[in-house]
Amino acid sequence: MRSELVLITGATGLIGFRTLVFALQAGYRVRAAIRSTSKQPNVEAALSRAGVALEADDQLSFVAVPDLTAAGAYEEAIRGATYVLHIASPSGETPCKTPDDFRDIILGPAVKGTLAMLEAAAGSGAGSVKRVVITSSIAAFVPFENLLGGVATDRVFGPDDRLPMPEAPPGDVFTAYCQSKAMALNEAEAWIARRKPPFSVVHVHPSYTIGRNDLATSTEGYQTTTNHLVMDIVLGGAELNILLASASVHLDDVARIHIGAMTIDLKGSLAGKVENDTTWEDAKDIAAKNFPDAVAKGVLPNTGSQPTLPLMIDSRETEKAFGFKHLSYEEEVKSVIQHYLELASKA
Ligand SMILES: NC(=O)c1ccc[n+]([C@@H]2O[C@H](COP(=O)([O-])OP(=O)(O)OC[C@H]3O[C@@H](n4cnc5c(N)ncnc54)[C@H](OP(=O)(O)O)[C@@H]3O)[C@@H](O)[C@H]2O)c1
Repeated sequence: MRSELVLITGATGLIGFRTLVFALQAGYRVRAAIRSTSKQPNVEAALSRAGVALEADDQLSFVAVPDLTAAGAYEEAIRGATYVLHIASPSGETPCKTPDDFRDIILGPAVKGTLAMLEAAAGSGAGSVKRVVITSSIAAFVPFENLLGGVATDRVFGPDDRLPMPEAPPGDVFTAYCQSKAMALNEAEAWIARRKPPFSVVHVHPSYTIGRNDLATSTEGYQTTTNHLVMDIVLGGAELNILLASASVHLDDVARIHIGAMTIDLKGSLAGKVENDTTWEDAKDIAAKNFPDAVAKGVLPNTGSQPTLPLMIDSRETEKAFGFKHLSYEEEVKSVIQHYLELASKA
């Protein structure tokens, strides 16, 4: 087991859990900061389902941080950590409706949580913390109109692109989410420029993340998280009724990039593919090719629709620095369907 301690947030969610698995498998000691300790048994059971055996009883510990917007939220949790993986943030799937909700449930936690972690790294983490890795998003630098607003562009986006701070308050949950990621990135960079901390900060920008979610214990688990984007197509479920940018990435690649970002020097790492000639609805051909029996029996009706808005993002620097090629959309789709069918067969 390695001696370095990694503080990870968001381990009760899609990306955080897979990153926790990879961190433990890489031999790191991990302290997982979770909102409520009631979720600890779920995480432990999912680790067991994912085949993770701890190298020692003290390889993994949990600490409760009930409110990441509170002053000093992470001051205790960060003590002795060498690396921080700050993944927790409200997702675009968060249920909320009113302008107050958008501010209090999405924008506030995203921005204040990020700044609280940076403050903690400079406070009680000073002397031990070498790097803070923050989970951003392509939504932090791709204009909303090109991501979810139906406007096609020839522009190729990269991790050095930035958006101005949003002026108008968000009118819906998707806009609120995108604004939260842009604001968190901009505020973090302003904090770094102002405070010049002795640790380095790396932002990871995943695109829509798809892959087996071992936290799910039933097929209902595939109606939440970004995995529903694929499952809705092959199950013929709820239609999003918006053009969705052709930017997806395998969950394993996102987790791999988070682990690498602790030690590889790249200011912004982009998790997503540059060659993007796929459409979301290719999921139907992938299902028919790889799971013909489930399609024939109607377990996967393959009747959903999801129109695609072409989007090009440039992850070549990330692939070069990390020395790997992103997994294909086919691998993403196979990963979630395979797990869905395993869960369906147990129901
Ligand atoms: N999935 C994607 O396609 C995608 C793409 C780009 C970036 N990201 C980013 O990746 C990160 C994780 O997303 P995900 O897809 O894994 O989402 P997720 O499955 O919904 O997980 C979100 C995680 O953040 C925690 N969290 C949310 N709001 C919180 C709050 N107010 N206080 C404390 N903890 C809070 C959740 O804790 P609880 O379990 O307690 O709710 C959970 O652990 C986020 O920063 C998201 O913006 C995701």
